[in-house]
Amino acid sequence: METETITIKDNHVNGISFPSDRIMLDLKDLKKVYPTPKGDYVVLEHLNLQILKEEFVTIIGHSGCGKTTMLSMIAGLNPISGGDIAVLGNPIQGPGPDRGVIFQAPSLMPWMTALQNVLLGVNRVFPHASKAQRKDIAKYYLHKVGLDGAFDKKANELSQGMQQRVGIARAFAIKPKVLLLDEPFGMLDSLTRGELQDILIEIWNKEKITAVMITHDVDEAIFLADRVVMMTSGPRAKIGDVLPIKFERPRTRKSVLEHEDYYKYRKHLIDFLEH
Ligand SMILES: Nc1ncnc2c1ncn2[C@@H]1O[C@H](COP(=O)(O)OP(=O)(O)O)[C@@H](O)[C@H]1O
Ligand SMILES: [Mg+2]
Repeated sequence: METETITIKDNHVNGISFPSDRIMLDLKDLKKVYPTPKGDYVVLEHLNLQILKEEFVTIIGHSGCGKTTMLSMIAGLNPISGGDIAVLGNPIQGPGPDRGVIFQAPSLMPWMTALQNVLLGVNRVFPHASKAQRKDIAKYYLHKVGLDGAFDKKANELSQGMQQRVGIARAFAIKPKVLLLDEPFGMLDSLTRGELQDILIEIWNKEKITAVMITHDVDEAIFLADRVVMMTSGPRAKIGDVLPIKFERPRTRKSVLEHEDYYKYRKHLIDFLEH
């Protein structure tokens, strides 16, 4: 998909605003304050970000700057202190099935099978579907993440990589408009990480949903994204810069690594993080 070249300075999109019918997620003047024993801690302030329909955005920023705080607010799991967050123009009120979340640790029910774990969400979101239909949905996404043959394995019998596959299947199976991912592959070895990146992109592309993913891996951020969003360091963190990644899709690691712009993108992100 095409994305406009924009840079963000002083919280304002440089005179460019996206047409409202293209915007999936709109963060307006977002603020987050945590009360602490030493007084209020302002984590995020004047944070403005628009994310488009069907866009894949990755978020990078130093540890502790407020990435998880921002994502959990979008998920509706963390109260907003100021500003607002809208999905398709409607301000969010708590969590909802329009937004799916994948955390670093998949937080499955350990005594339940892979299939039962995925069904938990499906049953909640599609209560009027037949039991067979719900099972078909759950099985379809478990198949997509490469878990054929592991449907009836208990979650606590699965490797970390397999558990995260279940987490991905569970999130896609509720058919969200927006998928929110908080360093989902951070604990995995690089081979598994690469496999799951490919699976994620394949399903994201097929389902035409919007994805917002936090990562601390600059290469992962570039490989997956239409735009990489850089957050400033806290306190009072906001969007510092946005880098559109113009590689064609589908992408392969090889084609990305061999592209003449790759090191330019990489340098841009590393320069941002080092200043
Ligand atoms: N519930 C909380 N209460 C108080 N401070 C918090 C809470 N959650 C996070 N923080 C603080 O807010 C800052 C941002 O945290 P977080 O969003 O987890 O950052 P990141 O995900 O970028 O590493 C950190 O300084 C963290 O200690
Ligand atoms: Mg975090």
